[in-house]
Amino acid sequence: MLLKEKQALIDLANTARQRAYAPYSNYPVGAALRTKTGRIFTGVNVENAAYPQTMCAERVAVFKAVSEGEKEFEVISVVTNNGGFPCGGCRQVLAEFGLDTIVLLADRNGNLLKETTVKELLPEAFTPEHLGK
Ligand code: THU
Repeated sequence: MLLKEKQALIDLANTARQRAYAPYSNYPVGAALRTKTGRIFTGVNVENAAYPQTMCAERVAVFKAVSEGEKEFEVISVVTNNGGFPCGGCRQVLAEFGLDTIVLLADRNGNLLKETTVKELLPEAFTPEHLGK
């Protein structure tokens, strides 16, 4: 993946991040997920007055993609104020669709701080294979 492609995906996530609904944490998160077919789905965190009903940006992006018929992912960029890492729940949801998905983490300025994979973020993952799928 070319550096300029990475930056473009980070910039998309950062633009989406402006649409985050995060009045409680004030920690807006944006994600941009590129499928193997080249389609891009963005996501933002959507908080709720009933706090546990909050949904993370990464999962919004994954669920948008799956609901549009895309289940094979190449790379996801995640932008936060400070380059925060995906939570455990989002790692598990990403793992469902492939351990080799690349994960780009960037800060509010769009600086790429870390490039990793779902496999690295969630070692020994529980996957569909464990259920015989
Ligand atoms: N958040 C995400 O959107 N993705 C993550 O992986 C970590 C946390 C959101 C949830 C909540 O709205 C805010 O960040 C603070 O936890």
